[in-house]
Amino acid sequence: MKTIIEPFKIKSVEPIQVTTRDERVGFLKRAKYNMFNLHSEEIVMDLLTDSGTSAMSSLQWGGIMVGDEAYAGSQSFQRFHETVSDIFGFKHIFPTHQGRASERILFSLTCKKGDHIPNNTHFDTTRANIEFTGATAVDMVIPEGLKPSKIHPFKGNMDTGALEKLIDEVGPDNIPLCMITITNNSGGGQPVSLQNIRDVKAICSRHGIPLYIDACRFAENAYFIKEREEGEGDKSPIDIAREIFSLADGCTMSAKKDGMANIGGFLCTNNDELADRVRNLEILTEGFPTYGGLAGRDLDAIAIGLREALDENYLKYRLATARYMGDRLVEAGVPIIQPPGGHAIYIDAKGMLPHIPPLQYPGQSLSCELYLEGGIRCCEIGSVMFAHTDKETGEEIPAQMELVRLAFPRRVYTQSHFEYAIEAILNVNAEKEKLRGMRITRQAPQLRHFTAEFEYMD
Ligand code: F0G
Repeated sequence: MKTIIEPFKIKSVEPIQVTTRDERVGFLKRAKYNMFNLHSEEIVMDLLTDSGTSAMSSLQWGGIMVGDEAYAGSQSFQRFHETVSDIFGFKHIFPTHQGRASERILFSLTCKKGDHIPNNTHFDTTRANIEFTGATAVDMVIPEGLKPSKIHPFKGNMDTGALEKLIDEVGPDNIPLCMITITNNSGGGQPVSLQNIRDVKAICSRHGIPLYIDACRFAENAYFIKEREEGEGDKSPIDIAREIFSLADGCTMSAKKDGMANIGGFLCTNNDELADRVRNLEILTEGFPTYGGLAGRDLDAIAIGLREALDENYLKYRLATARYMGDRLVEAGVPIIQPPGGHAIYIDAKGMLPHIPPLQYPGQSLSCELYLEGGIRCCEIGSVMFAHTDKETGEEIPAQMELVRLAFPRRVYTQSHFEYAIEAILNVNAEKEKLRGMRITRQAPQLRHFTAEFEYMD
């Protein structure tokens, strides 16, 4: 059979409120044209993020019921530890309440002012946690990773030449660790090849720099390796994942992505001395290291979810969804980041709306229109999120790309929901000349995209 089906049956459902365009005009006005101000019952299809929004399986809900809430040494922790150890293989494993908590602990213990942390592309919380310590976060994805329409099997790869150059320039003593994000979320959910991880590890080892993986979407990355990397096609996703992590000295993880859980994360390391310091800091801020800010039941949900995320049929279906939607949009001439990544489609709003200048926020205008057309909530990843002010001239410098991300919660929407989203995008594309630029009427000094208010240009 050629048809790829959702490899699950639906046991419990959550109703969707189907709204009219007129109602949505009112909701969006009240929300001041910011997607984060919408209420979930005002949304038909929520593609704001794939983080913590996935559907848990009946097995995971069963795990919730057997969760052991002992303060220390719970059975839930033992089951969590056994699974993480089996897949990730690191010596020390610390549960945390989510990915950024792992980042905060790791970077606050390893970084100081003047240090540099290279990554293919830092996710915004990763960058913010590094910069909070006074260190500098450096992005060095391969050049293909910055060209939306360029086809490359591993557009998330790190530029190894740029890594060597940074080590030469600042010296290995000022690089406490190197990171690789799999898949590269900020660069379009693009995968990293096993060979690239090996090459980066070899460079790091030569200079005594530890390698850490930001593992949020490790299972999707493993399946891309299976599909695209020579010699990997016969391996199972779990074996590929084990190989990836065998090359690293530790990892940070948000279990809200490929942990298939609604909350949770973990931090792993092979470094005994660092582990002692992590343990002490964790007790101070997250909780005792056998629960790390989570309930025992959350640990069980994660332990079960991690194995489900590595199921081959699930991964095949998951990546096929993005590919299907991507193909339909490309056929109709909608510019997207190519090829589609694992967890989302990224529309190139600059390419789609050349009549709207970057500082009139084409991505924001497109997000608003997708909401008005179909009640679809998505996220601008462009100048609203990343423009910055030039310190000398006071001029606003636009972001490198103007993207709109439609992220797919795991196991939540079916094929017909995706057909609906495609129809909405194509309808908007057919009338794209009518879209107008926007201006910001109110904004916060940092992370303005969460709270900014907008209006349309005249
Ligand atoms: N690293 C990556 C690559 C991420 O995508 C995220 C979260 C984090 C770290 C932080 O994890 O949210 O559990 O604290 N990404 C979400 C998103 C928020 O929508 O892409 P967290």
